[in-house]
Amino acid sequence: MITIKDKQFEPFIHHEQIAERVAALAQRLNADYTGRNPILITILNGAFMFVADLVRQLNFDHEIQFAKFSSYDGMDTTGTVKELIGLSIDIKDRDIIIVEDIIDTGTTMYHLLPRLKEKGAKSIEIASLLMKPGKLRMPLHVKYCAMEIPNEFIVGYGLDYDGVGRNYKSIYVVKEN
Ligand code: IMP
Ligand code: MG
Repeated sequence: MITIKDKQFEPFIHHEQIAERVAALAQRLNADYTGRNPILITILNGAFMFVADLVRQLNFDHEIQFAKFSSYDGMDTTGTVKELIGLSIDIKDRDIIIVEDIIDTGTTMYHLLPRLKEKGAKSIEIASLLMKPGKLRMPLHVKYCAMEIPNEFIVGYGLDYDGVGRNYKSIYVVKEN
């Protein structure tokens, strides 16, 4: 059990299981992207640990870029998406893989996808470490997802509670008293 600020969290997904699922996702990308030199647009801050583990298992040429949006405030999604670090790179006629930590309501991805399409990407797919299918509110196709979880708030492996807890190598779930 760990305590972050006012909340307690208990073990949820062990780091060995995360590693297995990330490796399996890397294999799928290896099968699909060889010879295409895609750009992995990684969404900060949460996906930094996932992308680091993921790219070390990719055996095709690719580029990595970062973008930052914000839709979360504490434990609640705010429904609006602010662009904090923009996408200045040229993505015309490029294959894009968006690397995300977790798809919750889908709001962040739903706002990002049209912006990338406008810039002329050849293809766009989402690779997310986690997804909460029960909370998805937007029509979103997530082709690559390492793990699906119930509607619970989690921390660790890049994910935070109010800025803290990203450093844990396993994932923890909030304990409701
Ligand atoms: P969405 O826009 O509602 O899909 O929210 C996506 C973003 O909210 C993710 O990129 C995370 O940064 C954050 N988020 C969603 N669920 C959790 C959670 O359980 N723990 C920590 N952050 C989360
Ligand atoms: Mg995020």
